[in-house]
Amino acid sequence: MNTGLKNLESWKNLEKHFDEIKNVHIKTLFAEDKNRAKRFTLNETGIYFDFSKHRITGETLDLLFKLAEERGVEKRRLEMFAGEKINVTEERAVLHTALRAPKGSEIFVDGKNIVPDIHSVLDKMSAFADKIRNGKWKGYSGKPIKNIINIGIGGSDLGPVMAYEALKHYSDRLLNFRFVSNVDGSDLAEAINGIDAEETLFIVASKTFTTLETMTNAQSARKWILSKLTDTKAIAKHFVALSTNAAEVGKFGIDTENMFGFWDWVGGRYSMTSAIGLSTMIAIGPENYRLLLDGFHQMDEHFKNTPLRKNIPVIMALLGIWYNDFFKAETQAVFPYENYLKRFPAYLQQLTMESNGKQTTLGGQRVDYQTGAIYWGEPGTNGQHSFYQLVHQGTKLIPVDFIGFKESLNPLSAHQDYLIANMLAQGEALAFGKTEEQVRAEGVAPELIPHKVFDGNRPSSTFFLDVLTPDKLGKLVAMYEHSVYVQGLIWNINPFDQWGVELGKVLAKNIIPELQDKNTELRHDSSTNALIGFYRR
Ligand code: F6P
Repeated sequence: MNTGLKNLESWKNLEKHFDEIKNVHIKTLFAEDKNRAKRFTLNETGIYFDFSKHRITGETLDLLFKLAEERGVEKRRLEMFAGEKINVTEERAVLHTALRAPKGSEIFVDGKNIVPDIHSVLDKMSAFADKIRNGKWKGYSGKPIKNIINIGIGGSDLGPVMAYEALKHYSDRLLNFRFVSNVDGSDLAEAINGIDAEETLFIVASKTFTTLETMTNAQSARKWILSKLTDTKAIAKHFVALSTNAAEVGKFGIDTENMFGFWDWVGGRYSMTSAIGLSTMIAIGPENYRLLLDGFHQMDEHFKNTPLRKNIPVIMALLGIWYNDFFKAETQAVFPYENYLKRFPAYLQQLTMESNGKQTTLGGQRVDYQTGAIYWGEPGTNGQHSFYQLVHQGTKLIPVDFIGFKESLNPLSAHQDYLIANMLAQGEALAFGKTEEQVRAEGVAPELIPHKVFDGNRPSSTFFLDVLTPDKLGKLVAMYEHSVYVQGLIWNINPFDQWGVELGKVLAKNIIPELQDKNTELRHDSSTNALIGFYRR
């Protein structure tokens, strides 16, 4: 089926251009242009973004920007900020950017300015976070809270856990944070192992408050609290909820006074700056949390107002299209050279893959091109001693995002120099490689030469920042959020729905009673029937 993307003049020109450039080596591109590094680097909002080590020329970028223009990116980015219902399959506005809009801004949904409500939730969160942090909020038996356990999954877990890890340096070390997501009982069991229920607060984070994993964990946590504190009045002191669904929160037994709300125009994977950020705020304090929001907002403004050619998320998105749709790269690696960002790739997996892992255009046609890449990664330098072999000498083309910081939050002798030297060396090795001649000149035995050759020509972006602060984290997350949206615009898909997660949920609901009642007749395929039989036995 022809969806029209491939008929665009810019797309056709990109195809022709791809044929001309596909075998050109990054080394040649650098040799031909002494100014290349400068030409393909931006320094915006405190992010030094070097995209010179890509298989692109000025012409490639011109054509990619033309594609963005033909797809209306300039105008359509504004539709998101204006609260238009761009999530067409769920008929919702997409306004995570409003969550970090400064007090006094005006953003309307169905005729109502939503900014005052956002700030009143933020104020309520701040007051609560302060009470936990200064010990004024007491558990049922009068002890202050020491343990905070966030129960949630997907966007209600990955943002909070990533942000907690990323900003641990700024967190109150007297508080102990744990995150429970998996319905596997071991997750909750380990989280409550060895801690005192009297000093424990559960944050039940769920946009819908119906998610099987979260509700199951929350019910078990409730039983655990009651097994220790016996009185149901204890629930009000040990449970708070983050949700859009007050009715379900009430049914669970959490006083809606202890609920922090948000709205249907916040998607799960875009929700870390909504009430879902409560655990982050308790950890780092309201002031640091405001800096985090400010960082997000600065990147929102950059994305919204900056011409495409100077726009970091737009360029990231277009480079992704270039590799995904023309070079047919299947994955995109993200390697943070900052240990605190160890959960960042996992966070990005939901953001990018639940958003752009789509096969249907906004108009309901099956796409006739590749959409979202597979995102993956681990912090450097750990990855270097694990899977980088494949990135350097394997048969697959893997574009890489390196993320590094000049300063360490824990300066220890030469550690930071070693860390950053490694990041820079990896980008250099991937791009420039090592030729047969170079290997031979080193006196390597002839039979080993082919094993020691590095072809290079492997692309990477480097994002270099000064030091990991709350606002820098905000900028980085918003940068990826917006690049996901731009890719969605180019592919004409909806990055804000997630129908693909539904079928498995429905089928699991059918299977649960079949596991519990051994006499139910099984009507699945023979493989599923046999597997259920094995479990039953
Ligand atoms: O299963 C997908 C999903 O809907 C995600 O989009 C979402 O982040 C997650 O489940 C959790 O949903 P909720 O916050 O409603 O529990």
